[in-house]
Amino acid sequence: MYTITGATGHVGSAAAAELLRRGAPVRTVVRDPARGEAWAARGAEVAVADLGDGAALTAALRGSDGAFVLLPTDETAGDAGHRALADSIAGAVGASGVGHVVVLSSVGADLVEGTGPIRWLHHLERGLRRTGATLSVVRSAHFQEKVEDALPAATTAGVYPVLDDDPDGPVPMVATRDVGELVALSLLAPPQADEVVDLDGPAYSERQVAELLGAALGRHLEVVVVPRDDRVPTLTASGVPEPFAHELVALADAGAQGLLRPRGDRVHRCTTPLEVTLRHVVAAAVDPAPAR
Ligand SMILES: NC(=O)c1ccc[n+]([C@@H]2O[C@H](COP(=O)([O-])OP(=O)(O)OC[C@H]3O[C@@H](n4cnc5c(N)ncnc54)[C@H](OP(=O)(O)O)[C@@H]3O)[C@@H](O)[C@H]2O)c1
Repeated sequence: MYTITGATGHVGSAAAAELLRRGAPVRTVVRDPARGEAWAARGAEVAVADLGDGAALTAALRGSDGAFVLLPTDETAGDAGHRALADSIAGAVGASGVGHVVVLSSVGADLVEGTGPIRWLHHLERGLRRTGATLSVVRSAHFQEKVEDALPAATTAGVYPVLDDDPDGPVPMVATRDVGELVALSLLAPPQADEVVDLDGPAYSERQVAELLGAALGRHLEVVVVPRDDRVPTLTASGVPEPFAHELVALADAGAQGLLRPRGDRVHRCTTPLEVTLRHVVAAAVDPAPAR
């Protein structure tokens, strides 16, 4: 039995779907029972647990051959909230006795700080290393699906905002379906010892992303490079809480400083091109129901 948290999210849903496609037994963990119904219909067991509820999560993980865990980003949770959730996840992994865990992390998570929200993934990795489970750390480059965040400005104003000084520097981007596939394969064939796998993918500049998103939407998008001092106000104006806006600016700074690089045991190359992901992203924005 393979237990998948975040099963209604990008990577968790792709991992659970890939395991089911291969005929493997899957237990999806959801916090809203209604969101588990679709997984039950596809033949998965469903457990209901909040990642912050140590007892419920321990029960959901118990008896698994392997488990996938992630630290969801909550724009309102702050530093203490993310660290507490990471501690709850690591505590449940340890208490459940699950032997192999695949954890979703990010390039840059080897660094203690200076990476914005990625420092919480560092904290999660460190907590999981103390549990006794064999750990497969999947440190991803940027998700291609992060372009979802640009959809409101693109569709309403024809603008693609760039919170970075260099709109022409190529950055690797991976499709979350590729991440989910690797998670599933790791669960089915665990390593002998802990390993850190960095995910690389096709690289795109922000200007190229804007062109490809514009093509998927059928309209030209104007690339607007937001000056550094205007980034936090721009984010808060779009509804991002101010503390988290500072985290996102720190993340962009870390990228600009070259801190978000592979430094693990091996690199896995993801191949899905951004054009393919954008077709799904735009289709899901028009009709969210069949997206997952
Ligand atoms: N964006 C990037 O470019 C990037 C790159 C590298 C790594 N990452 C990391 O990837 C992770 C996000 O992965 P993702 O995009 O697959 O996630 P996602 O699509 O944002 O989905 C989050 C999942 O977690 C569930 N969830 C949220 N809070 C929960 C809680 N308290 N208890 C139980 N379940 C909860 C959600 O369930 P509901 O349906 O109930 O909400 C959902 O299934 C983050 O750790 C992020 O730092 C992101």
